[in-house]
Amino acid sequence: MAGHLGWTCVGACAGAPSDAPSDTSTYASSDTSAHAPDASAQSSSGAALDAPTYYRDVAPLLASRCTECHRSGGIAPFALGTYDEAAPFAALVARTAVERTMPPFNLDNSGACNTYVGAPWLAESDIATLTAWAQAGAPAGEPTGETLESPSVWRLDRVDLTLEMPTPYAPTEPIVDDYRCFILEPGLAEDAFVTAFEVRLGRPDVVHHLTLYALDTAKDEQEAAALDAAQDGPGYTCFGDTLVPSRWLVGSGPSDKGGDLPAGTGLRIGAGRKAVLQMHYNWQNGAAPDRTAVDLKLEPMVEREAFIGQIADKELELPPGLPAVSESEALLMDGDYTLWGVWPHMHNLGEALRVTASRPGSESCLAQVNRYQFHWQRFAFYDRPVRVFGGDTLRITCTYDTTSRDTTTQWGFGTDDEMCIGFFYITPGGETDRADGPLAAGVSRSPGAPGSAPSSQRPRFER
Ligand code: HEC
Repeated sequence: MAGHLGWTCVGACAGAPSDAPSDTSTYASSDTSAHAPDASAQSSSGAALDAPTYYRDVAPLLASRCTECHRSGGIAPFALGTYDEAAPFAALVARTAVERTMPPFNLDNSGACNTYVGAPWLAESDIATLTAWAQAGAPAGEPTGETLESPSVWRLDRVDLTLEMPTPYAPTEPIVDDYRCFILEPGLAEDAFVTAFEVRLGRPDVVHHLTLYALDTAKDEQEAAALDAAQDGPGYTCFGDTLVPSRWLVGSGPSDKGGDLPAGTGLRIGAGRKAVLQMHYNWQNGAAPDRTAVDLKLEPMVEREAFIGQIADKELELPPGLPAVSESEALLMDGDYTLWGVWPHMHNLGEALRVTASRPGSESCLAQVNRYQFHWQRFAFYDRPVRVFGGDTLRITCTYDTTSRDTTTQWGFGTDDEMCIGFFYITPGGETDRADGPLAAGVSRSPGAPGSAPSSQRPRFER
C-alpha cells in the first residue's frame, strides 16, 4: 500500500530467491592433481612429526563436518571419507576452510554479527588443524581403528500434513532452469500453523530448490488455476515467483532439507485455502520425472504468527568491470518487530551483503555475508532473536564483482540480472516487551500477537 513504510510482503509481489541457476562446477578426478600435496615432501620433512595427521586429527573433523555431503552418493562432487580420498584435496580443503566457503554457509557466524542455530561454522582451531595438515604434506599417521560416523540427519518428528505434487513432472528439456508451479490442496478444516517442515525430493539430482507459498484468497486461487489451465502438462511455468499474489511459507535449497521454525512461532495456512509449490529444476543431470513432497508439522495455534518480510534494493545500476560495486537502500520501520532469522539473497555477481538497524545512539547488525555463494542460500535462524523498533532505519548494502560484465547490470529476475534482498522471518513485536538491544531467545514473549488474530488486526504489508 502506497506510502506505508515497513516490511513488504514476500511472494509473487517480491523476488523470492528462486531465480537463478545452479552451480556448474565439476570435479573431474584429473583436476585434483593441481591441488595435491607433494607426497615426497611428506616423508622427508621433519616438520611433519608434530603436524596433525589424517587418522588422529583430520578424519574425525571431516566426519563430523564434511562427509554428510562429501561421500559417495552425497551431494558434493567428491568424497572425503578415506585417507586416499581426502589427501589429494588437502590444499583445497585448507583453502576452503580458511576462506570459510566450506562447510557452506553464507552468513558470518563469528559473533561479530549474530550467531545462528546449528551453523556449520568451523572453529579457528579446526581451520588451523586443516591448514597445518595440508602444509605438512597431508600425513596419514597411524590408523586409530575408530569408526567415524557423520552426525545424524535431522528428521521431522511428526507429520501432520503432506503436500505432494499431484503427478510426476519431467523438466522441459531446452530450459536449463525450469521453474514450475504446482497447485496443491492442503484441505484444512481450520486455520493451522506450520512449525516445522521436511522436504522429500523425488529426484534430488534434478531439483535445484523449491519454495512453498500459501494462497490467501479465492481470487488468488482462481488466477493460479487459470495459469495452470492455460498450459499443457501438470502445473504452470513460473519463473522467479508464483505470478499470483501469494505468501511465502517455506523454502529449501541444496544444503537444507527442512527444519524446525523458531519455537512459539509458525506460518499460517488458511482453512480450505490452496498452496503453490514452486519447483526449480535444473536438468544438468538429466530430465528425469520428479514428484516432490513437503511434510509439514502443524499446530492449531502458535504464540506468534510469523511472516516473511524483506528489505531490498531494487534500484540496482551496476557498472561493468569493477571488482567491488556497492549499492545500498534504507527502510524506515513502521513498528516494532522481532526478527528470528534471515536469508540473504543476491545472484551470481554478489560478493558481500550487510543489513543493519540503526536508531539514535546505536546500531545493530542484522546480517553479515563476507563471501556470498549463490548456491548456498537458505534461511538461518538467530541463536538470539533481534528486535527492531518503530523509527529504526534498516539499511541493506550489497557488494558485487562486475569484472565479468561489459554492460550495466540491473535488478531483475533473470540469471544475469541482480538482486539485493534480506528476507527476514518476522513476528510483530508488542509494545509490552520493548527492550533495548537483542532479545534473549524465549524471554518476554509478547502475548500481543496470538496466532488466531483475525487478519484485519495483523500488520499490513505492501503487496
Ligand atoms: C552441505 C553439503 C556440504 C558440506 C557439509 C561440505 N561440503 Fe564441500 N562441497 C559441497 C558441494 C556441493 C561442493 C561443490 C561446489 C559447490 O556446490 O559449492 C563442495 C565443494 C568443496 C570443495 C571444492 C571447492 C572449490 O573451491 O573447488 C572443497 C575443497 C570442499 N567442498 C571441502 C569441504 C570440507 C573440508 C568440508 C567440511 C569442513 C565440506 N566441504 C563440507 C558440499 C558440502
